[in-house]
Amino acid sequence: MKKIRKAVIPVAGLGTRFLPATKAIPKEMLTIVDRPTIQYIVEEVVASGIEEVVLITSAGKSAIENHFDYDFQLDTVLKEKNKSTLREELANISNLIDVVSVRQKEPLGLGHAIWMARNVIGDEPFLVLLGDDLVRSKVPCCKQMIELYNEVGESIVAIQRVPKDQTFQYGIIEGEETEQDRTFKVKRMVEKPAPGTSDSDMAIIGRYLLMPEIFDLLSKTTPGHGGEIQLTDALQALSIRRGMYAYEFIGNRYDAGDKLGYLKAIVDFSLEHPTLGGPFKEYLQTICAGGKCSVPS
Ligand code: G1P
Repeated sequence: MKKIRKAVIPVAGLGTRFLPATKAIPKEMLTIVDRPTIQYIVEEVVASGIEEVVLITSAGKSAIENHFDYDFQLDTVLKEKNKSTLREELANISNLIDVVSVRQKEPLGLGHAIWMARNVIGDEPFLVLLGDDLVRSKVPCCKQMIELYNEVGESIVAIQRVPKDQTFQYGIIEGEETEQDRTFKVKRMVEKPAPGTSDSDMAIIGRYLLMPEIFDLLSKTTPGHGGEIQLTDALQALSIRRGMYAYEFIGNRYDAGDKLGYLKAIVDFSLEHPTLGGPFKEYLQTICAGGKCSVPS
């Protein structure tokens, strides 16, 4: 069985849900506590034992590449000012992992973005992480998936249960239970089904472990939901061709591409922060005294 060595992170989207904040900066650079959201994603990849990240970018996204690069000028200034802790912190980010970028020249959909990685990935299984989906968990979500892959040897999509009135916002899978804990054999998957057209509450979240055959299937996938080339449509074909599993990961997922989800992530990640967590909790307690939340005017 081939080892999982590479992870694709599509970051070409315009981030219209966060305008005007994202007019001049990529949405992936919006901050949660003290790090841009993309850093949480890359840290999950690194903690899962991955060796190389492939960013699928578009115009205006160079801040993301710069964030993971070495900045000679900044390092020289920090060195002159004896800011050794900051220098070390920045060096840790640029030494995190090898990053390769590929440009997606036209916004033709998530499926097309992943297809752009075909030459860099080659003939080996790989991970896909969507930057909007942040996961907080003891064992990184991707690591949980790699552990399952080592048992089942096939493609895996991470899922979570969502209320039935929200299924139209996700790729939804129908599956059958297997002997493995929290694992389902995929029977059918649909991208953003119209309300009332699917009985399943199993929603795909932005973590995929895919066999390289997906590239061949993506090249044959025609535009689907929203007129875009959908990854879910190619996954449905892959599940028929060689089988696929859905895995209900252990952890909390935040839709950081949505304003409310982003705020929830800020609160939960802040509470966990080694130095800010305590004072922030005290602050929350003062505004929510006795369980009655009083919103400061
Ligand atoms: C994408 C996928 C969808 C998945 C979702 C998870 O949709 O197409 O299948 O459920 O991510 O966040 P998007 O939210 O980018 O429209």
